[in-house]
Amino acid sequence: MPDGRGAPPGSGTYEQGKEVYTANCLACHGANLEGNSDLGAAPLIGGRDSLASGKPKKTVESYWPYASTVYDYVKRAMPFNAPGSLSDDDVYAVVAYVLGEANIFDKNATLDGESLAAVEMPNKDGFIADPRPDIFNYE
Ligand code: HEC
Repeated sequence: MPDGRGAPPGSGTYEQGKEVYTANCLACHGANLEGNSDLGAAPLIGGRDSLASGKPKKTVESYWPYASTVYDYVKRAMPFNAPGSLSDDDVYAVVAYVLGEANIFDKNATLDGESLAAVEMPNKDGFIADPRPDIFNYE
């Protein structure tokens, strides 16, 4: 959860994450995290402050409101060809690398459950509540 509940034990650093990224992510997401549209692999960084422009570029850096979602998504869904294959430590490390490249997380800091919950994503205030009171609530 965004507040750190449920975060697995373990930790990782930017430097460790660079190795994890090179071995497990680079082939699809590119050496500069720029993505690969032929493969449908999203760009992971860039696009900050582009969302309200005519050409919004949605990435982890520009769009995602919580760092915990990055951890959870990578842990469950990536690498695309072998989801669930990374250890908890490797996921902390590669998330530290992606957030480090996005200039969101200090490249010299260690990412763990506590520091993950403390990360402030650039677009955290960019969402509005939409409770849909007009939609029938099934019981
Ligand atoms: C075999 C190619 C491949 C590999 C390897 C791979 N990915 Fe992906 N990745 C994809 C594809 C394709 C998508 C889009 C999936 C979708 O939209 O359902 C994606 C989506 C993502 C997203 C969501 C981006 C967004 O804004 O929607 C993240 C984050 C991500 N990958 C991180 C990683 C990380 C970290 C690794 C390495 C541990 C990795 N990926 C390895 C192909 C790959």
